[in-house]
Amino acid sequence: MEEVEETYIMIKPDGVQRGLVGEIISIFEKKGFKLTGLKLFQCPKELAEEHYKDLQSKSFFPKLIDYITSGPVVCMAWEGIGVVASARKLIGATNPLNAEPGTIRGDLAVQTGRNVVHGSDSPENGKREIDDNTALRLHFGVITPSVEIVI
Ligand code: TYD
Repeated sequence: MEEVEETYIMIKPDGVQRGLVGEIISIFEKKGFKLTGLKLFQCPKELAEEHYKDLQSKSFFPKLIDYITSGPVVCMAWEGIGVVASARKLIGATNPLNAEPGTIRGDLAVQTGRNVVHGSDSPENGKREIDDNTALRLHFGVITPSVEIVI
């Protein structure tokens, strides 16, 4: 039987700037997944580099970091049975020109470097990416913050 998992979904700066936040959240809600964390967040360079550390050696890495830090992103944690793989299907292929119509990237994007949304590629990375993200970690109460948090 499929397990309940958690995945980290991030609407990238182009998605926020183009006003696609509501539409993207709606896709995951309508599918039936549960939103368990949400934050509009200006990602610091160090966190962007940590998030994409597996791609450090790639030629596009500096541009990727510039892009992710170019404006606010929407960080989300979503929970559900098989949510990691299902979210990847809803998002579509990395290159939006190869993404099927009906997927987020297939319907809403053209360029790999502006592909609107991120989704964890494994349950382990889902956990890591949610834990790495201070904004979400505060919401989850995994660390004890010294400041009062109003939710
Ligand atoms: P990757 O983890 O391979 O894809 P995905 O986002 O589908 O899991 O790559 C991470 C991001 O890096 C990708 O969403 C966009 C960027 N990227 C490029 O800018 N150029 C590239 O050639 C690739 C492969 C990725």
